[in-house]
Amino acid sequence: MAALRADPGLMPGAVEELIRWCGPTLLTIPRYAREDAELCGIPIAKGDAVTASIAAAHRDPRAYTDPDRLDITRPAGQPGHLGFAHGPHFCVGAALARVQTEVALTTLLRRHPGLALAEPAPRAPDPGTWRLAALTVTL
Ligand code: HEM
Repeated sequence: MAALRADPGLMPGAVEELIRWCGPTLLTIPRYAREDAELCGIPIAKGDAVTASIAAAHRDPRAYTDPDRLDITRPAGQPGHLGFAHGPHFCVGAALARVQTEVALTTLLRRHPGLALAEPAPRAPDPGTWRLAALTVTL
C-alpha cells in the first residue's frame, strides 16, 4: 500500500500481479473430452470432465520467479497471468475488470490514507473461487 501511495503509476502492474497472486478464479469451468486423449501422460477418457487449475499455473516456479511472493513490480519478461483464462473463452469482461479494479483501489488508497486491516480476513468456504467472507478494516 505504501508503494502504491507513493507512486500511483504502479497500479496497473499491481492489478495484474494481484490477479496472478490471489485472483478470484481458481479453476476453469469443466470441459468434457470428446474423444480419448492423453495429457502430460495422464489418460483422459471420452466424456471425462477436465478443469485447468489457474491457481496452480500462477504459482508455477518454472514460469515465475519466487511465485508465492506478491511483487507489484515484477519485471517485464515473465509470462502474463492466466487469471482471465486463455484462448476462445478468454474472459469478455477482462478490460472492464482491469479498469474497475484499478479505479477502485486507487480511489480507496487516496480517500483513506489510514486504511488498515482490523483483523485477519477469513476466506469464504468455496473451493472454486478465492474470495473473502469478510474484510474488516479501520479507516
Ligand atoms: C477480476 C474479475 C474477473 C475475473 C478474474 C474473470 C475471470 C474469468 C475466467 C478465468 C474466465 C474463463 C472461464 C473458463 O474458461 O472456464 C472468464 C470468462 C468469462 N467472463 Fe470473466 N472474469 C472477471 C470479470 C468479468 C466481468 C466484469 C465480466 C462481464 C462484464 C465477465 C464476463 C465473462 C464472460 C461472459 C465469460 C465467458 C466467456 C466465454 O465463455 O467465451 N468477467 N472470466
